[in-house]
Amino acid sequence: MEKFVIKGGRRLRGTVSVSGAKNSALPILAATLLSEEPSEIKNVPNLRDVNTMVKILRNLGVRVLMGNGIIRVEPRGYSQCEAPYKLVSTMRASICVLGPILAKKGFAKVSHPGGCIIGPRPIDLHIKGIKALGAGVSIEGGYICAKAKRLHGATVYLGGAFGSSVLATANVMMAATLTQGTTIIENAACEPEICDLADFLVKMGAKIKGQGTPVIEIYGVKRLFGAEHTIIPDRIETGTLLVAAVVTNGEVEIKGAKPEHLGAVIDKLREAGAKIIVNGNKIKVTGRKRFKPVNVTTLPYPGFPTDMQAQFMAAMCLTDGISVITEKVYPERFIHISELNRMGAQIMLEGSSAIVRGVPRLSGAPVMASDLRASAALVIAGLVAKGRTEVSRIYHIDRGYEKIEEKLLSLGAEIRRERSNEVHPPQNLGG
Ligand code: EPU
Repeated sequence: MEKFVIKGGRRLRGTVSVSGAKNSALPILAATLLSEEPSEIKNVPNLRDVNTMVKILRNLGVRVLMGNGIIRVEPRGYSQCEAPYKLVSTMRASICVLGPILAKKGFAKVSHPGGCIIGPRPIDLHIKGIKALGAGVSIEGGYICAKAKRLHGATVYLGGAFGSSVLATANVMMAATLTQGTTIIENAACEPEICDLADFLVKMGAKIKGQGTPVIEIYGVKRLFGAEHTIIPDRIETGTLLVAAVVTNGEVEIKGAKPEHLGAVIDKLREAGAKIIVNGNKIKVTGRKRFKPVNVTTLPYPGFPTDMQAQFMAAMCLTDGISVITEKVYPERFIHISELNRMGAQIMLEGSSAIVRGVPRLSGAPVMASDLRASAALVIAGLVAKGRTEVSRIYHIDRGYEKIEEKLLSLGAEIRRERSNEVHPPQNLGG
């Protein structure tokens, strides 16, 4: 296992580029299964989760070639229809192969992903969606087994107790492309990653309208073709770099971003006192020594993203007041609080709200990463803390941040990757 050793207190300065979005790349790689023809996906980040998706595709019998951020998928005649437990258990997002395999092969068997460290993660909306399209679904031996001779169009409402679902929308949208008739998804997720997926599907020959709004219409077609596509920039990586720059009182330019995908994050950072200038695909951010406390509530897009909650909380530890951070997407996603408190933060949990009392400084400590975004928060805290921080179990961060330490090093951070004595990472679900 590996850990990050960080010496805090360096101001981040310079220019850094954003990688392709993990949460676009994963469903788009799954969507390639809808065609017989090869597809080529560009700007794919080199991440553990992407490698897991490639393993799932190969396990189905699909030929996958990768290199230099390009993944070529050759799905012709793939014969397996199963995503096994050993792969799904390491990445929850594997569920997004369910819709494409079912639509293309008439049968899909995908291991039930269960819950994960960020809380219970039900899949009822995925199942509701594909059942509405005519699939028979059963749970057998821990697997979701879905069957249909030919799917048909339907109107399906995909809202749950916590609003829309990104991957349920993705799954139903992908399955609906090859149905007979028209599908209308109501309360669809509006995330940019859904638009990116829809854009790829349209390049494959799908007929889709309304992506990016809560109502998506899909007109089923008989077959889809191979296509070429470039993944959008990762808005969560961008937001994480923005927060890292702000807390270190830095001055950083982020290149190759899509600032329009970060409205809520930029707004909150400005409210906290950061200076942010947007110019095309560049974002220039200047931090300050102390911030104003800011209240944040996570919500589905275009609200403040749950995937930025932990990182923003790390910043709010250093204000001159109290911030309330409320989680409305994953009410239990607070595993980072106890680790931030080990570094001297004063955070209390009240239901699904964290009350963050600003402290004069954080102090470096050994801390343990527990999920992807929580690890990013600990790295941010380490960059600003006094002294040495060791973040262990960084395999979590490798799931979703490409070359994170190289990027931070290039901005002047003191961070290095070291082997740690810990053995055997416990299995983790997330993503
Ligand atoms: N939900 C249900 N039923 C379902 C599905 C979801 O009740 O069938 C609930 C969830 O429990 C949650 C809410 O709906 O309360 C939203 O979950 P969603 O389904 O949107 O999450 P997801 O699609 O499984 C994606 C991202 C997550 C991100 C969430 C929310 C990918 C691969 N994953 O997950 O990303 O947190 O949307 O924006 O796109 C991450 O990158 O670190 C990460 C966890």
